[in-house]
Amino acid sequence: MPSSRTRFAIFLVFSILALLIFLPKEKISQSYHSFYGSARPHISQSKPNAAILMLIAPSRIHQATLALLNVENRFNRRLQYPYVLFTANEEEYAMITEEERQKIDWITQGRATLGTFLRSTPIVESFTGMVAVVTKDSWEIPDFYDKSRVEDSFRNIGFSSGYRSMCRFYSGFFWKQPALLEYEWLWRLDTDIEFHCDIPYDPVERMIEAGALYGFIQINEDAEWVQPSLASNVSEFLSSYYSSHSSASNAVPGVALPPVPADVNHAFVWHGMNGVEKALKGEGGNGEWTRMCMYNNFEISHRSLWESQIYTSFFEHLDNAGGFFYERWSDSPIHSFGVAMALRKDQVMQFHDMGYQHQGWAFECATIDRCTCLKEGAAADFDDQGYRWFNTSAS
Ligand SMILES: *[C@@H]1O[C@H](CO)[C@@H](O)[C@H](O)[C@H]1NC(C)=O
Ligand SMILES: *[C@@H]1O[C@H](CO)[C@@H](O)[C@H](O)[C@H]1NC(C)=O
Repeated sequence: MPSSRTRFAIFLVFSILALLIFLPKEKISQSYHSFYGSARPHISQSKPNAAILMLIAPSRIHQATLALLNVENRFNRRLQYPYVLFTANEEEYAMITEEERQKIDWITQGRATLGTFLRSTPIVESFTGMVAVVTKDSWEIPDFYDKSRVEDSFRNIGFSSGYRSMCRFYSGFFWKQPALLEYEWLWRLDTDIEFHCDIPYDPVERMIEAGALYGFIQINEDAEWVQPSLASNVSEFLSSYYSSHSSASNAVPGVALPPVPADVNHAFVWHGMNGVEKALKGEGGNGEWTRMCMYNNFEISHRSLWESQIYTSFFEHLDNAGGFFYERWSDSPIHSFGVAMALRKDQVMQFHDMGYQHQGWAFECATIDRCTCLKEGAAADFDDQGYRWFNTSAS
């Protein structure tokens, strides 16, 4: 018979063991969950339901970490938005070391979720305890593609399969990912970025106050040669969409017309009234296309834009046409075509005071105290071309 003291010692050892095994590991990331639990201690009820998303390659993990630190320093340590970080496949996911994960965890105060693209099963561990999954149909080349035509296009146009997958992913899938489903506002950023200005306000709140659904910083012209038949496919879509949703379908009781605002900004992407008319009739092509694109490596969007009937049908049309792999259709013009067909001018907002820079590209260096950039080199004569969207002379 063991003495009561021995029994007590055994009890103590088991209790400690049980505690060690069953107690959840206290991580900084727990604060993230308590945010969105009932308590929400640090934030007001009205905080926008937004997440920052980023696609990261293992070779760019250091760059991504720097970007996250910059984002935290410039605004997000105040705003406390969560991050959803994706890698392109399980191999890349596995290449991100424990040390790197911990670094990201520390820098983001546990607000980052790392997810990956899975071959099949939609379950993956996540280092902050949440699950972010991208399924294979949103990344791999769909089966219906003619493989030899795809090979030809790699030879003739260039750009890797991964790059094209990324374009297709951002065009038609990112907002559908399980890790992003709970968020209304999706704030996309890249790993090779820097904000040169401190941002003391909440850009998402600013958009909400203005009734905007899409936010951008600059407008660029995209190249035609990588996507020679994108514009004509868009035009083909517009004509078939509008004719199939004409007054005839409206006459069917209970069948509502799709919610397309009457005064959407077609003239952003099509030259003049003549261009818009041709595009709507299915006769538009590169000659009518302005090639204007929101530079969407920075992009704040409300998911209702992507989930709208017109955008959903639009992406389906493009995906079936095959240009993501037969050519190199890019998500930037596709988003801009989509924004132009779904939103009015006043539903889009431009930001001028963030000093946002992507790679070595030209950027806006605002002359305000909270910016640390110099108006030299890439910032010398920057023109954000925002007037292209807000052009009042275009009807
Ligand atoms: C504004 O729109 C008009 C009419 O479509 C066009 O001729 C003009 O070039 C546009 N201006 C700018 C700055 O985009
Ligand atoms: C649409 O794009 C596909 C793929 O590039 C191409 O084969 C097709 O001819 C295009 N259709 C139109 C109407 O431009």
